[in-house]
Order: sequence, then C-alpha cells, then structure tokens
Amino acid sequence: MTFEELKKLLSFSESASTEAKWIMSENLSDSETYKVIERRKFGEPLSKILGHRGFWQGDFIVDKNVLDPRPDSETLIQSVLEKFPDKNQSLRILDLGTGSGCLLISLLMEYPKATGIGVDISEKALKIAKKNTLKNDVKAEFILADMTKLPQNLGTFDIIISNPPYIPTKDIEGLDENVKKFDPLLALDGGEDGLDFYRIIAKIAPAPIVFLEIGQDQEKDVQAIFEKQNWEFLDSKKDYAGITRVLIFKKDL
Ligand SMILES: C[S@@+](CC[C@H](N)C(=O)[O-])C[C@H]1O[C@@H](n2cnc3c(N)ncnc32)[C@H](O)[C@@H]1O
Repeated sequence: MTFEELKKLLSFSESASTEAKWIMSENLSDSETYKVIERRKFGEPLSKILGHRGFWQGDFIVDKNVLDPRPDSETLIQSVLEKFPDKNQSLRILDLGTGSGCLLISLLMEYPKATGIGVDISEKALKIAKKNTLKNDVKAEFILADMTKLPQNLGTFDIIISNPPYIPTKDIEGLDENVKKFDPLLALDGGEDGLDFYRIIAKIAPAPIVFLEIGQDQEKDVQAIFEKQNWEFLDSKKDYAGITRVLIFKKDL
C-alpha cells in the first residue's frame, strides 16, 4: 500500500498524514494495515493498536493498563533538564504514579548515573513499566504501593516527579470518548476537585524539589496546596500549546 493510499484510508483522522507515516514505518502487511485502520476507525489511539509510542528520546510499550504518554508530559522532562543541567549527577529520583514509566525512564536515559524508583497502585501498569526499562536499556526499581500510604523505608530523594491523576471526578464523564475508553480510569480520576493527589504529595514528598504535571487552570490551587505545606514555589513551565503544565516547588528537608 502506498503512503497516499494509506492517507486516504485514514481521512477520518485529523492527523491522517502523521498516522500514515507511523503505520508505514511499522512495515506491516496490507491485511495487518487494514486491521489497524478498522480499529482506528472506532477511535482507538494508534499507539494502543500498535502497542507502543515514542516519548522524549525513548519508545514505550503501552496497553489498556497504562495512560498513553502525552507529548505535553515532555514538559516535565524539559523542566528537570533545565534545573539540573549537569547530566553526570547521581540523582536519586522518585516517580509517583509512574504508569508506563515514561517520565522516570526518560530521565534515567538523560542522567546515566541516576537511580530511580517508580511507584504505582496498578500491578498491571508496573509490568509494562518494567518492560519499558528493558526496551530502553535502563535500570529502575518499581514499587507496588498506594502513594497515600508510601512505605516509610524509601529514604529521601534528590527529585520527586509526578503526573498524578488530576481530572475532577465529575468531568470524567465529559472526557473525549477515546480517553474514557482507552486510558485507565485509575490514571485519570483526581477526586472531587481533581486535586486529591497534590494534597497527598505536598504532605509526603521526601525530597527538596518536586516537579509536578498539572491540568489546565490548576496552577493557583496547586500552588496554594503546596505553600500551605511550607513548599516554596520555584518555577512553572508551559507545554507545547502554551498552557502552564509543570509546577516546581522546593523545600528545606
Ligand atoms: C496520569 S497517570 C501518569 C502515568 C505516567 N507517569 C505518565 O506521565 O504518562 C497517573 C498514574 O497514577 C497511578 N495511580 C493512581 N492512583 C494511585 C495511588 N493512589 N497511588 C499510586 N499510584 C496511583 C495510576 O495507576 C497511573 O498510572
């Protein structure tokens, strides 16, 4: 099948050209390609059909048990790189709600001497995260735990990163069908006002600096939550669409 034929078959998608290029790069047979297009027509993200997605410098296995890594989450990686420009540092990193592991693994790829622990409440997500360490040739430790009851013996970290679930419960119903259908609810629901996990992280985070992904318009609320727990606002960073996506706080331990 030629690129033009494929693009035409994908004309129902807003990103037909990008998706056609991606499918071409998979070297599928025509019958496999038709199957992909059939599933795509029903709204399933291409990453979940093909089973992987590129994020930052890596390639990550994804399935129905993990949030599909979003390009906007790369803002968090950029923020860490800006604050910690020396890539030879032996940073100790904790990722709360690691999912596919895309954030932690991307940082471990950038800082070869760093070590990392990823925490998630989903055993199935952690299985994918472990596979992603192998796929991207890094080592990380993963802990199956509820971040509201983080094990006491984890010690302290140089950096905490988190892209926690941050959608208010009442907004889940109104989300895009594809998100509702193909991303796990566990990765989305941030409680009544969407801010439950920020309240928890502000109380428990064992590190002098924390990098958080936030939802649109959550900047002021999250800042107030962290300042109440004696964190100092350090910086924020906008995503590719110009929306404030990452907040950085610091604290003397
Ligand atoms: C928004 S996803 C982020 C996944 C990944 N870090 C990323 O940026 O693509 C949030 C993750 O938090 C996990 N999670 C939800 N509740 C949790 C809890 N109480 N304790 C630990 N992890 C939790 C979910 O399973 C999900 O993997």
